[in-house]
Amino acid sequence: MSDSNPETVGSEVIFKRLMEIARVSALEELASGIAHELNQPLGAIATFSQAGERMLDRGEPLVGRAVEVFRQINHEALSAGAGIHRIRRMFDPGESARVRCQMSDLVSELHPVLQMLASRHRGRLQLHAATSLPTLLLDRLRIQHVLFALVQNACDAGSQNAGLPQVTIDVAGDRYAVQTSVTDSGAGVAPENQGQMFRPFFTTKRGGTGLGLASCRAIVEAHEGTIGFENLPAGGSRFWFRLPAAAMESER
Ligand SMILES: Nc1ncnc2c1ncn2[C@@H]1O[C@H](COP(=O)(O)OP(=O)(O)OP(=O)(O)O)[C@@H](O)[C@H]1O
Ligand SMILES: [Mg+2]
Repeated sequence: MSDSNPETVGSEVIFKRLMEIARVSALEELASGIAHELNQPLGAIATFSQAGERMLDRGEPLVGRAVEVFRQINHEALSAGAGIHRIRRMFDPGESARVRCQMSDLVSELHPVLQMLASRHRGRLQLHAATSLPTLLLDRLRIQHVLFALVQNACDAGSQNAGLPQVTIDVAGDRYAVQTSVTDSGAGVAPENQGQMFRPFFTTKRGGTGLGLASCRAIVEAHEGTIGFENLPAGGSRFWFRLPAAAMESER
C-alpha cells in the first residue's frame, strides 16, 4: 500500500497534520469572528458617510440632518470598537488562569512534547534548568505555548542550516526574575527581518502564519515580562523571555 493511503500514514505525519489543522481552523474562526463583528458597522459607516456628503455638498447644505448622520457614524464606529473588544475578551482569560509555579516544573512538563518536536526535525534538544529560582505567577498553558513556539522556530532555523538542528533551553535567574532562553544552530536572524519579526503575520516561511512570535510577545508582556533575541557571534540565535518573580504570599 502507498503512503498516501490514510490507513498507512504514520503517527508523525498525523501529528503534523493535526497541528496544521488546529492552527488553520483557529485562524479561520478568528477571521470569521472579526468579519461578523465588523462588516455590519463598516457597511453602515460607508452608507452614512455617503449620505452626509450629499447633504453638505449642495447649494443649501442640510446641516441639521448632517449632524444627525455624524452621530450615527459615531455610534457605528463605537459599536465596531465594542465588537473588537468582545473578540479580545474571548481570547484573553485575564489573570484568572494564573497559578504560582516554578519555571523548571513547567518546562519539565513540556519536555516530552518538545523532544518530539525536535526529533521530527531530526534535531537534538538539551535542557539546563537552574534550581532554587523564584516562584512565578503564570498562565501555565500560555507560557508553555511561548516555549513551544520558540523551540519550533529554533528547529526550523536549525533545519535550514547545514547539519542537524541543535536546540538548547536554559532556565536561569536571580531573586527578581526568571529568564528562559532558547538557543539554536540556525543562521541567525537576517538583518532585514529583525525589526519586523514580532509583528503579526510577518513570516519568511512557506505555510507560516507569522503569529508565533507575535503571540509570544503578547503573552509575555501580559505577564509583565520582556522578550527579545540576539544573534550569537559563533552563529545561531538566542531568543529569551524574562518573567518577574511573584510577590511573596505574605506580601499579597
Ligand atoms: N530562531 C530564528 N532564527 C532565525 N529567524 C527566525 C527565528 N525565529 C523566527 N525567525 C524569523 O521570524 C519570522 C516570524 O516568526 P514567527 O514564529 O512569528 O512566524 P513563523 O515561524 O514564520 O510562522 P509559524 O510560527 O506560524 O510557523 C520567521 O518567519 C523567521 O523569518
Ligand atoms: Mg514560528
